[in-house]
Amino acid sequence: MKRLIFPLVSVFALTGISTADSFKLNPEDYRALNHVKSMVIFDKAHPLYTPFGGIHHVYVNNSGVKTIKSCNRRTFKDGTVLVFVLYENVEKNGTYIEGKKKIEAFMVKSSNKYKSTDGWGYFAYDSKGRNLVKNMKTNCHSCHSQVKNKDFVFSCWTK
Ligand code: HEC
Repeated sequence: MKRLIFPLVSVFALTGISTADSFKLNPEDYRALNHVKSMVIFDKAHPLYTPFGGIHHVYVNNSGVKTIKSCNRRTFKDGTVLVFVLYENVEKNGTYIEGKKKIEAFMVKSSNKYKSTDGWGYFAYDSKGRNLVKNMKTNCHSCHSQVKNKDFVFSCWTK
């Protein structure tokens, strides 16, 4: 029996099917990390408006803080965690303020675990905590591959 189970497990591992895999930090935890940058996407004509319209903040844990400061030609260490949190953009009395939370997204570096996505695990949840990632490669990594030369991380440290 063991012989039969083992190859099955290997096939799942090779194809990257891993439903049990998940990663999430609570706001108390990620907001205590290092703030990298913030951005407001308000124009409906912006190519990223549909998925990411609103106000977002990016955080990095201590493992990645030194690396993110060099914007190009960088390789993040295993154990690096990046966080992207998106809120609705609410216009109020001449200001933009954070409305409801829309998305919490995480990137976790583990070279062995996430070989098929160049070492990055991608996780994302909507406001109700529902999983948004069906396939790390097509849902997330394909777009992040635009910045392969920055180790698939768009953000640079705001000086
Ligand atoms: C259409 C392109 C696109 C897709 C698809 C996409 N992202 Fe991103 N992502 C971006 C851009 C652009 C940024 C940088 C935002 C900024 O500069 O503030 C970003 C930033 C991030 C960050 C912060 C680190 C960084 O790269 O700057 C995380 C974490 C993240 N995304 C996770 C995800 C996850 C998880 C998914 C899949 C559900 C995903 N992304 C899908 C374009 C994309």
